[in-house]
Amino acid sequence: MKIKLENNKVFFDNNGSKKEIHPFWLRERVNGESFLDKGTQQRLFDPTELKKNIEIKDLKLSDEFLEVLFDDGAKTKLAIQNIFKEFSNINDVKFIEKIKWDSSLKNYNNYEFDEKIFEQKKMYEALVNFYQFGFVIFKKVPTKNNFLIEFANSIGSVRRTNFGEFFNVKSIPNPNDLAYTSLPLAPHTDNPYRNPVPCIQILHCIENEVKGGYSTLVDGYTVTEELKKDHPDLYKILTEIKVRYQFIDKDVYLENWAEMIELDDEENFKQVRFSPRLDFVPLMDKDKLELYYSARNKISELYNSDKFKIQFKLSPGDLLMMDNHRLLHGRTEYNANEGNRFLQGCYIDYDSTEGKLRHLKKKFNYEL
Ligand SMILES: [Fe+2]
Repeated sequence: MKIKLENNKVFFDNNGSKKEIHPFWLRERVNGESFLDKGTQQRLFDPTELKKNIEIKDLKLSDEFLEVLFDDGAKTKLAIQNIFKEFSNINDVKFIEKIKWDSSLKNYNNYEFDEKIFEQKKMYEALVNFYQFGFVIFKKVPTKNNFLIEFANSIGSVRRTNFGEFFNVKSIPNPNDLAYTSLPLAPHTDNPYRNPVPCIQILHCIENEVKGGYSTLVDGYTVTEELKKDHPDLYKILTEIKVRYQFIDKDVYLENWAEMIELDDEENFKQVRFSPRLDFVPLMDKDKLELYYSARNKISELYNSDKFKIQFKLSPGDLLMMDNHRLLHGRTEYNANEGNRFLQGCYIDYDSTEGKLRHLKKKFNYEL
């Protein structure tokens, strides 16, 4: 990448493809105290109020800087590196490559908590690890006074739902969800009936005295890529059909229509939803429904197969943070008469983890 000048015009040369940079694009990026707030980097001017046909009056280029004088009198010195960064989307967490995993994943990273962790390099590494694998475990996180909420709010902000700011996972009489029993829970994603679906679930183990009650995780990304490779027709229908997910409680009726495998604008993996006790497929032609049901059975078989599942026991103080758009989670059965099993859970959204990651990256001058 190179910046070139010709007749008071600025060109961006990327491997031989040379394109002019619009003068207004440069004018919007003027910096210095009279144009930008020092702390927030917010503009002190409104670009929609500038004259539209801004022209460049003078240009100077060195190895590190581009100096520009505009015909409205504004003058600025732009770091070439910052211009390049805008073209590379280097701040986008999508550029952290996902690492596919299955049941052979053995030594996943743990990060020991200390009270300063939220501003340390260790947290940056933990968050990169989270985007690579879709989950991360913190050890020795304080278990008193709902510390989970303080933890979540130190990364970003808790996403409150109608279940409250957080929820207690333990077996109780007359539960409104299977989570609050001692029954096994097959791999699922949480809350597909919400719009938007909570991005990240945090589960904090407070007590675990029982023999069973292992936590299970499955990488929805690995499974859907496998399905795409081996059964493209089944994969296709799950990416196309929007099904209705619903949740009905005493005072709320939640509903959302969405695909079981959702793709982004470039047809790449975006999100999975899987909770076969509360999904309702629309009434379609019999042949299409036949294919849909085969697809749902196949993906259920893969999600539940031992080939993809990892299983581990959370100990008191362990805090599991998992991507609810990518991973499925569940647990094995336990016997509530053996002792207490008590987890606390809450949700946060991607703006929290992405915001913290960028902040730490800037602070430590890291490259993603
Ligand atoms: Fe769940």
